[in-house]
Amino acid sequence: MRDMRPDRLAPDLLAVRFSRRQVLRRAAALGLSVPALSALLAACAGEEATPTQAPAVQPTATPTEAAAETPTAAETPAGTPTVITTPETTYSMDNPPEVFNADQASQYSGATLTYYGDSVGIGAEMDQALAGAFSEATGITINVVPKPESATENYAAYQRFFSAQSPDVDVMMIDVIWPGAFAPHLVDLSQALGEEAKAHYETIIENNTVDGKLVGMPWFGDFGMLYYRTDLLEKYGFSNPPETWDELEEMAQTILEGERGANPNFAGFVFQGNAYEGLTCNALEWLASSGGGRFIENGQVTINNPQAVEMLNKVRGWVGTIAPQGVTTYQEEDSRQVFQGGNAAFLRNWPYVYSLATGEDSPVRDMVGVAPLPAQPGNPHVGTVGGWQLAVSMYSRAPEAAIEFVRYMTSPEVQTWRAVLGSFVPTIPDVASRPEVLQAMPFLEPMEAVERVTRPSRETGERYNEVSTIVFQGVNQILTGQDAAQVLPGVAQRLQRIVG
Ligand code: GLC
Repeated sequence: MRDMRPDRLAPDLLAVRFSRRQVLRRAAALGLSVPALSALLAACAGEEATPTQAPAVQPTATPTEAAAETPTAAETPAGTPTVITTPETTYSMDNPPEVFNADQASQYSGATLTYYGDSVGIGAEMDQALAGAFSEATGITINVVPKPESATENYAAYQRFFSAQSPDVDVMMIDVIWPGAFAPHLVDLSQALGEEAKAHYETIIENNTVDGKLVGMPWFGDFGMLYYRTDLLEKYGFSNPPETWDELEEMAQTILEGERGANPNFAGFVFQGNAYEGLTCNALEWLASSGGGRFIENGQVTINNPQAVEMLNKVRGWVGTIAPQGVTTYQEEDSRQVFQGGNAAFLRNWPYVYSLATGEDSPVRDMVGVAPLPAQPGNPHVGTVGGWQLAVSMYSRAPEAAIEFVRYMTSPEVQTWRAVLGSFVPTIPDVASRPEVLQAMPFLEPMEAVERVTRPSRETGERYNEVSTIVFQGVNQILTGQDAAQVLPGVAQRLQRIVG
């Protein structure tokens, strides 16, 4: 018998391939809330007017008469960048938003900025397009440098810049967990961008404010979620994505057994198991969704507990069975590529994967479902909070020009463009509720019901990186074969020395 509590229903309702009619029928039967329903309907927008059974958010769906009211995707040949048109706007890689602050910024014409931007997915390409538009409109040259892919390596690189007081970076992407650590080296943006900051979610602005100093403008949000292959679930007779980790294990095993013959590289479940920041994010989700807590709570180290031991040993059991042995070296892009290449049934990752996995040239484009991550019975579905900010280095030689670049990049127009084309989660509520954004990211509103869990970066401040390193090293040892009951006491002890 299925558990019919609302928090257990989210997975089916998030199955983005449901038809509008199915969704309405189920929503009525289940008493779904209005915001969740409107998101689902946005996800299905235009479908009834479309003669084919194209999934709701198909970048290549044929335009229909519905184009007048709802955003639709224009037909583009395979391999070219996605183009999405609404009555007002065409979103495409070669059409970045107008530089609305060009007049103001042009007074710094001739300046050159180095921007440490995105390196994952199409983020780098988008950065180039935006920087190009900004340069053309303002005469400010922007050198776009992709930051290291791993947040842990990225942190170390910035530490080196800052300790050398290097002017070699002006604008940089800052992880949601870093304001406390890097505040002394970042320009206070509250004077220049305080008005703009009011449009963003207050919680992120609070997170980015250290001792009254606004050290970063929100750029995009992130949360962990589950991607799954709708075709394979159907093929093996599963009507819904897994609600519990045990179900995920069973489903992955069944699908794996069936698919391995034809594809020896096939994996059941892939995630980020490498010893780096991403594993801390995965581990937080495993623990918080199984009664294992959140590492450090109210100043107490709680990581060594029986539920945490049990869950981490369960995950250890996945390595080399439902997950490939190599998962202990995977970061975001490794795991995305396995899934997008058609070689995995389930993937844990961030929202940016959605636009890529459902994009023009993705082999699995019509077969991608999205759901909250599983939880053990009696525990909430959770997703780790991630996200990035744009900050200006104190050692920049052109801070005013840098601030104008940040003003443009974090604006509602740019966030909308990035959300529609790259499924980057907006940090401005008005952007998050735009129809074209909801259509491009049909999971956005329903996912709001999923509990967001945060890493302990606020309470540990500049020592957070050490905390996380202890956690991911310990968890990686477990994944590579050690018993969690042996590893967690040492992890707890080391954390205790930091927390005091
Ligand atoms: C994503 C998140 C970030 C996190 C990182 C870990 O980029 O946005 O917050 O630290 O993944 O790999």
